[in-house]
Amino acid sequence: MAGKTLQLQPRLQLLADLVPVGAKLADVGTDHGYLPVWLLQQGSISRAIASDINAEPLEHARKTAAEYGVSEQMDFRLCAGLEKIASCEVDTVVIAGMGGETIQSILAAAPWTKNEGVQLLLQPMTKVEMLRIWLSDNGYHFTGERLVFDKDFLYPILCVTGGRGEPISEEESYAGRLLGEEPLYGMYLEQQIRKLQRRIDGLRRSESSDTAEEAGRLEKIRLSMVKRRKDIPCIR
Ligand SMILES: C[S@@+](CC[C@H](N)C(=O)[O-])C[C@H]1O[C@@H](n2cnc3c(N)ncnc32)[C@H](O)[C@@H]1O
Repeated sequence: MAGKTLQLQPRLQLLADLVPVGAKLADVGTDHGYLPVWLLQQGSISRAIASDINAEPLEHARKTAAEYGVSEQMDFRLCAGLEKIASCEVDTVVIAGMGGETIQSILAAAPWTKNEGVQLLLQPMTKVEMLRIWLSDNGYHFTGERLVFDKDFLYPILCVTGGRGEPISEEESYAGRLLGEEPLYGMYLEQQIRKLQRRIDGLRRSESSDTAEEAGRLEKIRLSMVKRRKDIPCIR
């Protein structure tokens, strides 16, 4: 429909803003396809691949593309992760709105995502601590981290490329490595401190010596994060 413009919610908007102009984009787990459709409508990219493991969401993406007049510029791939996407087709891969373990398994199955010139924008819904450590241990390097508040939730976005960096510490896996300049960092630390506290409480309830040791280690991290939090002015 001519003239109709898609509006993105803040989480997808920040992801869209992080996609470089002229990128060869794959949006993995695209669902409604809003992200690639918006970027194509803006003219900031000229083609995109939208993939999904399920037929119904991919059908939604086709409908969105048709509704906003960008069908000709999109390829739709029904596949798990990056299975039907070749390394030469893309330089920017967005994997958003999925669990950290799913994102990890998608990347583990596509080692070409570590190739020079490939940028990954990852937005896990769960287990971001595990994902940060896995990325750091498996040949990925953090180029940026961002935070966005959307519908009562605070989402971290990890910007990553292939390459070795300083290994992520357990504290950084909770607190983030490159979030210090983000306006919402104080709020993020508070959220992560609460998450740590719940884990510590759970471990303490189980009363074994192993869990007591883990609880002690996590408590040290929690206290260090509380100290970090005190040094940051509160925005929200
Ligand atoms: C919650 S939606 C997220 C949609 C969009 N990426 C976003 O961030 O708003 C998750 C989508 O990922 C798809 N999905 C889940 N696991 C997948 C996988 N291993 N490979 C590709 N797509 C997957 C689901 O079918 C679903 O459409």
